[in-house]
Amino acid sequence: MSARSLMISPSILGGNFSNTADDIAAIAASGADYAHFDVMDGHFVPEITFGAKMIEDARPLTDLIFDVHLMIEKPELSVERFAKAGAGIITVHAEATRHIWRTLSLIKECGAEAGVAINPGTPVSFIESVLPIADYILVMTVNPGWSGQRFIPECMDKIAELDQRRHDDGYGYLIEADGGIGLGNVKALFDAGMDMAVVGSAFFREDDKAAFVSQMQERCL
Ligand code: DX5
Ligand code: ZN
Repeated sequence: MSARSLMISPSILGGNFSNTADDIAAIAASGADYAHFDVMDGHFVPEITFGAKMIEDARPLTDLIFDVHLMIEKPELSVERFAKAGAGIITVHAEATRHIWRTLSLIKECGAEAGVAINPGTPVSFIESVLPIADYILVMTVNPGWSGQRFIPECMDKIAELDQRRHDDGYGYLIEADGGIGLGNVKALFDAGMDMAVVGSAFFREDDKAAFVSQMQERCL
């Protein structure tokens, strides 16, 4: 049995926004480790979802850590607000700011854990300088913006590269993968070095969500 264990962060984007409180309750009841919130601004990605008020209003519903994925331009202008709203992890896209070091530092100063995300077209070398300070590296395994897309297998190499780098250089980040993940590919991602799987549509399409979470974990024993 492996010493590592898979963590699962279901994304409410895969659910129904007219039913968010029930979707969050379903995540909490499933045995998942986190709840993932996808914030989109209509600029960094075409879609618009919600802002910090969603985090604030959902915060009393559960003790789960809120894993907030900001797909927004200039996230440095908003991280303080999201931290105050109750985000436990705030992840920003390296492509969305000229100030990635300052933004990650600001997230930590606000009391949250700091994640940096990269799109499928962005190499690991682009975030080289912040590898020592990031708590999480989020590797997008689809193009950001929508739930229910097909996994891009070429992104797997970046997970393996990040896993190698942290072993070689002693970095402490966890590796999160987001997009197109389900029972069919979770084991390969875990073996490559992924610690946390964000799961949207594959989670919400299941009637028995607790069984799904268990099956995902069992695949990675
Ligand atoms: C996409 C989002 C993902 C999305 C994943 O931009 O970042 O978190 O909800 O959904 P699935 O698992 O359906 O690809
Ligand atoms: Zn996401």
